[in-house]
Amino acid sequence: MRRQPIVARTIPSLDRAIARLRAAPGKLAIIPTMGALHAGHLALVRLAKTKARRVVVSIFVNPTQFAPHEDLASYPRKLSADVAALSTLGVDLVWAPTAAVMYPPGFATRVAPEGPATAGLEDRFRPHFFGGVTTVVAKLFTQVRPDLAVFGEKDYQQLKVVTRMAADLNLRLRVIGMPTLREGDGLALSSRNAYLSAEERARAPALHRTLQQCATRIRAGDAVAQVTADGTAALGRAGFVVDYLEARHAETLAPIAQATDGPVRLLVAAKLGTTRLIDNIGV
Ligand code: PAJ
Repeated sequence: MRRQPIVARTIPSLDRAIARLRAAPGKLAIIPTMGALHAGHLALVRLAKTKARRVVVSIFVNPTQFAPHEDLASYPRKLSADVAALSTLGVDLVWAPTAAVMYPPGFATRVAPEGPATAGLEDRFRPHFFGGVTTVVAKLFTQVRPDLAVFGEKDYQQLKVVTRMAADLNLRLRVIGMPTLREGDGLALSSRNAYLSAEERARAPALHRTLQQCATRIRAGDAVAQVTADGTAALGRAGFVVDYLEARHAETLAPIAQATDGPVRLLVAAKLGTTRLIDNIGV
C-alpha cells in the first residue's frame, strides 16, 4: 500500500492533522524518531500498525539531548527519503518540526528524570541526555496525545526512562517496547552505523558477540563482575574503547551480582574510532 502521509512542520498544521486523526475511530500511536530511518525504525511502525488504526511518526533531531561535543551537526538528515519509506507502511502523519518550532525563543522548561535515568549507565557518559529525551518526548506526547507509543529495546535505558515518565506524569498512554533489529552478523541497526569505516564495520559485530558470550557465562552461574571484566577486555582486544559493560536488573536497572538476582539485562556502550555504539541483550 502506498499512501503519502501528511507532513506537518508547524504547530497549527499539526493541530489540524491531529484533530482529524482523533475524530476517526481507533487508537492513535506515535513512534518518536530522529529520522535517517532504517529497518529497525520501520519495524516499530509495523508493530504500531498492529495495535493502532492511526500512526504518527515524529522526525526531529532533538538538540537538547546532544552535548556540545556530540554529533548534532553531522547527524544524518534525510526527510524526503524518510517520508517515502513511511508512505509504504500506511503512516498517517509525519510530524517534523524545526528546532525553532519545538523550542521557540524563551523556551525555559526541562523535565528532570530520576530513577532509571540516574542508573549510572548512559547517564554517566551523557549527563544531559535523558533530560533532553524526556523533555522532547513529553512535548511530543502532549502535542500528539497518542493512546500508545512504541520505543525500541535497542535504547534499553531510554525505554525504561520514558515508561517511568509516562506513568509519573499521568500521560495516559501505553509505552510498548520492540526487540532490537540486527544485521545478519548481529550488529544492531543504528543510524550511527553509517559513520563506521569499512574496517570498523567489519569489527563492529564483536559488540553483540561479546554480549552473547557474557550472557552464556552468567546463565551458567559465573560471577557477574568477572564476566563483565572479561567482556570489557575482549572488546578492548577487538579495538573498542568501552564506556561500560554491565549486567543490571532488567526492570529496575539496579546492579546485580549473579543470575539469581535477575531478570538480568546486559548493557554495553563502546567507541569504535569516533563512533559510539550501544547494545543490550536479555540474559
Ligand atoms: P532514534 O535513535 O531515531 O530511535 C528512534 C526509535 O527507534 C527508538 O525507540 C529506538 O530505540 C528505536 N530503534 C533504533 N534502532 C533500533 C533497532 N535496531 N531495532 C529496534 N528499534 C530501534 O531514540 C531516539 O531516536 C531519540 O532519543 C528519541 C526517542 C526520538 C527522542 O529524541
